[in-house]
Amino acid sequence: MKTIKDTNLKDKTILIRTDYNVPLRDGKITSDLRIRASLPTLDYLRSRGAAKIVIISHLGRPDGYDKNLSLAPVASALNKLIGRVSFEKSLAPADIKKSTATLKNGDILLLENLRFDPGEEQNDNNFIKSIIDAVNPDLYVQDGFAVLHRAHASTDAVKDFLPVFAGLLVEKEVSNLGKVMADPDKPLVLVLGGAKVADKQPLIDKFLPLADHILIGGKIAANGYAPASDKIIVASDFDEDASGEKKDIGPVSTSEFAGKIIDAKTIIWNGTLGHTEDPAYATASTIVAELMGEAEDKTTIVCGGDTTGFVENLIEEHPTLHYTLVSTGGGASLEFLLGNKMPGLDAISS
Ligand code: 3PG
Repeated sequence: MKTIKDTNLKDKTILIRTDYNVPLRDGKITSDLRIRASLPTLDYLRSRGAAKIVIISHLGRPDGYDKNLSLAPVASALNKLIGRVSFEKSLAPADIKKSTATLKNGDILLLENLRFDPGEEQNDNNFIKSIIDAVNPDLYVQDGFAVLHRAHASTDAVKDFLPVFAGLLVEKEVSNLGKVMADPDKPLVLVLGGAKVADKQPLIDKFLPLADHILIGGKIAANGYAPASDKIIVASDFDEDASGEKKDIGPVSTSEFAGKIIDAKTIIWNGTLGHTEDPAYATASTIVAELMGEAEDKTTIVCGGDTTGFVENLIEEHPTLHYTLVSTGGGASLEFLLGNKMPGLDAISS
């Protein structure tokens, strides 16, 4: 996989795909994980003398233009973080061309949500070519790890027109998740929570030959998941609310999980263990997050939207917590771990 470290960036015009599909509430960004995760690559491009940087991305699943899914708030947030960021609200080639022409060395232009044009999701050559012709880039940087499982114009069709280099985020995600699958430091423990067995069973099947222990909490455990191997430990006691609903795994299971995590060298966690939106039922998940985040000699990987959101909030309260990787890929990280086809990854020049 060729990365931006393998090419000369000086004086180049760069078209870069990021994943700024951030959660929004009332027009406000509720987690900027994906924005912050794009900064190392943008800083690197600037530090290597890139001339113009034009970013393309998506937000949500719009059906045509939808002002609630504009990337304008992301442009403001990005500008606050690294400065010299402008926004082009039109995807019309003439407008993109005009805005690109005004950029000075190191300036960044973020274009409006690609999915406002059906060509993006249709993997339409003409759509991505119209953007490329307007920007006239020397190379394409793919740094939208979270969207690499989609065969869209900005992940797949683009490879027919430009050399594609991985950004630093894609490199970090792929190298860490790849190591877990190919050559993990052992013992390897997979911690699983969440609600739907159908979503998690493929992960359990995939990790059964690889992991030393698979620890299962969340609704799956509360609903009585039947383990098919003695490697799988399903939570057996629960904290319940007044109506008897199981809301978190209980102290006996939490301490059994903690013991396995303390002995592990690699821990990968997907799915919170209880109803963490209520702090009263976030105890087990907090303990797991702290044990992982305080460990200095372990590979610790957190993936899946709910879990990464939970961990990000905890990091805000306790900035010393540190993880090898808090993956920005919701669906993409799972597809990667399952070894499924990733068109956006295949498109990166080798
Ligand atoms: C995500 O949030 O998982 C990615 O941005 C991909 O979004 P999608 O599932 O709408 O394609």
